[in-house]
Amino acid sequence: MSQTSACSHKHHGECARPETFGSPVHISLTVNGKAVEADAPADLLLLDFLRENLGLTGTKRGCGEGDCGACTVLVNGQPVTSCMMLAAQAQDKEVLTVEGLSQGGKLHPIQEAFLDAGAVQCGFCTPGMLLAAKALLDTNPNPTRDEILAQVAGNLCRCTGYAKIVDAVKLAARKMTVL
Ligand code: FES
Ligand code: FES
Repeated sequence: MSQTSACSHKHHGECARPETFGSPVHISLTVNGKAVEADAPADLLLLDFLRENLGLTGTKRGCGEGDCGACTVLVNGQPVTSCMMLAAQAQDKEVLTVEGLSQGGKLHPIQEAFLDAGAVQCGFCTPGMLLAAKALLDTNPNPTRDEILAQVAGNLCRCTGYAKIVDAVKLAARKMTVL
């Protein structure tokens, strides 16, 4: 149904953001393997849902505009910038954040590889990098350096110059192959 009544927003023409847009919606999804049910505003970003509602602050807010990749999580195995996705759009989907990588107190091989290769400096980009790397290695267990660079092209790192990140993903590939 189209919105024809006057709204309180400052714009001309028909409102694309109805007054009901921020009303609560019920969301059911899986986060890090656990079923989550919540009522959340319809316009709540997935990033804010993860950080504020679920306390999963490993997912970082950088630019907030889809440009830096710091907020990257996996949704049904695909890297997604969670600052550009509504929590409601994750309905019935599986979300993986950096908190879901380690199992039983043991770091994931990709996390170990980033530490071993010295690919973590300030660490701000690291959660998003780890998840982008996981998405790649899950479908391509032995990526080339160019394939790794292409995968993390949307994840900005101001510290490492990317060489150590590529080294880390190559190392992770070896670790995961011998598991
Ligand atoms: Fe989402 Fe930068 S915070 S892409
Ligand atoms: Fe600092 Fe990547 S380690 S931004």
